[in-house]
Amino acid sequence: MPASIKDSLQLVQSLSPFKRQISLDMHEEGQGFSGLIDGVLDSLEVEQWLLQDMQELALDFCSLLGHGHLSATLALLDRTMCPRWHADHVTMRLLCTYFGAGTEFVENRYADRRPLQRMLFQDTQGYGIRDESAVQSASPGDVLYLKGHAFPGNAGFGAVHRSPAASVEAPRLVFTLDEAMPLSAEECHCGKLH
Ligand SMILES: [Fe+2]
Repeated sequence: MPASIKDSLQLVQSLSPFKRQISLDMHEEGQGFSGLIDGVLDSLEVEQWLLQDMQELALDFCSLLGHGHLSATLALLDRTMCPRWHADHVTMRLLCTYFGAGTEFVENRYADRRPLQRMLFQDTQGYGIRDESAVQSASPGDVLYLKGHAFPGNAGFGAVHRSPAASVEAPRLVFTLDEAMPLSAEECHCGKLH
């Protein structure tokens, strides 16, 4: 992330929290992320940089998935979202914190997935960590690819992570990409091909 953009992103601190989500097919003409950022920032330079960056991240993500169907979210968070160690019920998730503290994660060997612990905290919330010194934090602009429980062959072994603290004084601007599976005409009963 260029230093000038990093500085300008400080603007975000003064904004009200928001969360915007769009679905798109990156393989269709004219698809982009303006719906996530239109009218949010005062800086055209930052807006254009973010649009370009989100586009590049999405194209990389799609080349991993093998198709272009995505769900994208941009959120300014002023409170901590998921403070417990957990794994997500998704195939693959891309996370990039543009501003503020980045997502915390551990390598699989440091995650304690004992069933008793899972029951105590309901489902996959509340995993334990075998070694606190093994906790890693993403920095602003880092890109995390987190394999979830729904990734083929990965049931029960989703990447263990948690949200860092966020507050009104220390908000986070977080970009998330998830795989959106295309519906077949049979699945949605509209009769049209998707
Ligand atoms: Fe998560």
